[in-house]
Amino acid sequence: MERNVEKMLNRVSVAFISIGTVIMVIMILQTPKTCISPEAPSKSHTHFPRSTCDSSPRQHLPLPKKNARMWSSKAWKLRLSSFSSYFVRFRDLGFLQNHTKALCLSAGAGHAPMALSQIGLSDVTAVELVESLPLVRRADPHNLPFFDGVFDFAFTAHLAEALFPWRFVAEMERTVRRGGLCLVAVDECGGDDVKDIARLFLNSKLVDMANVTLEGSKMTSLLLKVQESPA
Ligand SMILES: *[C@@H]1O[C@H](CO)[C@@H](O)[C@H](O)[C@H]1NC(C)=O
Ligand SMILES: *[C@@H]1O[C@H](CO)[C@@H](O)[C@H](O)[C@H]1NC(C)=O
Repeated sequence: MERNVEKMLNRVSVAFISIGTVIMVIMILQTPKTCISPEAPSKSHTHFPRSTCDSSPRQHLPLPKKNARMWSSKAWKLRLSSFSSYFVRFRDLGFLQNHTKALCLSAGAGHAPMALSQIGLSDVTAVELVESLPLVRRADPHNLPFFDGVFDFAFTAHLAEALFPWRFVAEMERTVRRGGLCLVAVDECGGDDVKDIARLFLNSKLVDMANVTLEGSKMTSLLLKVQESPA
C-alpha cells in the first residue's frame, strides 16, 4: 500500500518536472513581445540602445572621453545655449554675479550648471538622483546634504516633477541664505497658477516673473527672494 502511494507520488513529481521543463524551454525560445521594436527610433534618444532586448555589449568609454563626446554634440550645445541665454538675463539684471554660490536641483545631465559656469559663476553645485560627474552629484533634492544657508542662489526647471513639491521648495529655501534667491522655471502659466507656485515658498517673495523659452519649451520663470527673517 505505502509502496503504491510512493510510486504514485514519484510519477506526479516526474510529470510536474516535465511540464515545468517544457514551459521553460518555450519561454526561452519565445522573444518577449514587450521589446520595443528597433523600427521605432526616437530622434532625441538616438544614443540609447536600439531595442530593450539589444544584448550586444555596450561601449564602455572612460568618463572624460564620454563627456567630451556628449558635450560636443549638437543637442547638448543647443540646450546649453538655451540655459545660458536664460541665465544671462539674471546676470544683466544684477541677480547673478561671478561670486554667486549657486545650486542646481534636479540638474539632469548638467546643462544648467555648465551654463552658469559659462556665464562666469565660479562656484556651482548641481544635484540629481543619478550622478553625472563631474557636473552633477548624486543627492535627493527632497533631502539635500548641505547645511542651512550655504548658497546664494538655487535653481530648478523640474519642480513640477518633484514627488513632494513643498518639500523640494523647503529644501531650496533652507539651503539658500537669507536675502538669497530661488529661481524656478515651470510650464508656462499665469495668474492663479503663478500664485500657487509662489505660495509654496513659505519664506520668500516673488521679485521677477517672465515667460521664457527654455530647451525649446515655453516656460514661466519665477525668481523669489528669501526673506531676511523667517515668516
Ligand atoms: C566674471 O567671469 C568671467 C569669466 O570667468 C570674466 O570674463 C568676467 O570679466 C568676470 N566679471 C567680473 C565682473 O569680474
Ligand atoms: C505668461 O503666459 C501666460 C499664459 O500664456 C499668461 O497668462 C501670463 O500673463 C504671461 N506672463 C507674463 C509675465 O507675461
